[in-house]
Amino acid sequence: MKLNVNGRVHDVDVEAEMPLLWVLRDELKMHGTKYGCGIAQCGACTVHIDGEAVRSCSLPVSAAEGKQIVTIEGLAAGSTLHKVQKAWIDHDVPQCGYCQAGMIMAVAALLKDKPKPTDADINDTITNICRCGTFQQVRAAIHAAANA
Ligand code: FES
Ligand code: FES
Repeated sequence: MKLNVNGRVHDVDVEAEMPLLWVLRDELKMHGTKYGCGIAQCGACTVHIDGEAVRSCSLPVSAAEGKQIVTIEGLAAGSTLHKVQKAWIDHDVPQCGYCQAGMIMAVAALLKDKPKPTDADINDTITNICRCGTFQQVRAAIHAAANA
């Protein structure tokens, strides 16, 4: 099966029902996207598929075939960080960092749909779980990125 990840086409020999997250991490050795819960609850595994935030632990790889998959490794444009990544650095958001790739991908998708999200939009959309409790910094960084 052919997968387009971060603008590059990869040929992978995997079962159609294997979760996309397993393919990214184990087959393509892209370890930025994390495994947290495995049941679409925590958001650590969030990637973009055709611009939409998707929890890759619960998506069969076959559903991503022929689509544009973007992972945290492909979010920056070359050496230019995405505005969400810049805001994350400015606001010192990460603690342990484990949830942060998924958080950033979810936020980048939100800002594409809603360039100026309200707190209610953030509450509705950014349901990612952070065990370190970075939620206040996440919110501040989202507003900063929206105003960048
Ligand atoms: S690992 Fe996918 S949502 Fe938790
Ligand atoms: S920064 Fe540690 S889980 Fe979110």
